[in-house]
Amino acid sequence: MYKLAVFGNPINHSLSPIIHTQFAEQTGVKISYEKILAPVDDFISSATDFINNGTNGFNITVPFKLDAFKLATKLTLNAKTAKAVNTIKIDGDKLIGENTDGAGLVNDLTNNLNIDLKGKIILVLGAGGATQGILLPLLNQQPRRVMIANRTAIKASKLKHDFAKYGKTCGFGLEKIKHNPVDIIINATSASLDGKMPDIAKGCANGAICYDLMYGQQTPFMNWSKANNAKMTVDGLGMLVEQAAISFEFWTGKKPDTKSVIDSLRS
Ligand code: ATR
Repeated sequence: MYKLAVFGNPINHSLSPIIHTQFAEQTGVKISYEKILAPVDDFISSATDFINNGTNGFNITVPFKLDAFKLATKLTLNAKTAKAVNTIKIDGDKLIGENTDGAGLVNDLTNNLNIDLKGKIILVLGAGGATQGILLPLLNQQPRRVMIANRTAIKASKLKHDFAKYGKTCGFGLEKIKHNPVDIIINATSASLDGKMPDIAKGCANGAICYDLMYGQQTPFMNWSKANNAKMTVDGLGMLVEQAAISFEFWTGKKPDTKSVIDSLRS
């Protein structure tokens, strides 16, 4: 029996227990997977109690991914570059920190949506934690270029420099986005949470695949992309299931089928 959990605040809305229970049924692995609401200012005590009671690992969601990064005693390359941890595996006395968000996004784009990222121009909106988590897995797919555009230009330039060794990147302010179409636009800003759309040139959406990391609702970015001739408009539900699948395999060694789970959540 794998004893697992997800920590967050809030956590009630989390689909992770449903997703992992479906993975466990498919693969025949026995798990318990609970939602744990940790106090905003004391994730560490909450996680330490859970660890001391015996666990195989856990997920970490907003706002604790940076705390989990600090809690981990060993980090994967993804976690190091993301500077955030969404999955911890207990391995003897080690707490191995991994970040499966970016690989989850890439798996959704490449396996579920059949999009080959090689040679593509990808525009990423935002330069916060979400962007930091997806850049390495995106660059590993060898796109022609990843353009990072942010309301605060300096943060985009900093990410450009930090990730330049992994592939071709550029970073600038949102106002510098031209009307030239790009292949893929990824909304990694938190603007949707406030019901807002980043203020950018409309023409870049023309014929583009527009992907919002948010899920569960039609976001202003999704409405904007449809109104501006996007080729495809997608929410982040597939990414959510894919990142969970990578965590599940990291803990149990078993690779679950994701398509049936995505279908069941969309129905
Ligand atoms: P997360 O971990 O979700 O990435 P974050 O680190 O707080 O959260 O980053 C939020 C990102 O969304 C930032 O890039 C932010 O832009 P700034 O760096 O200029 O603050 C971006 N963002 C939030 N609201 C936005 C809006 N209304 N328009 C454009 N960008 C927005």
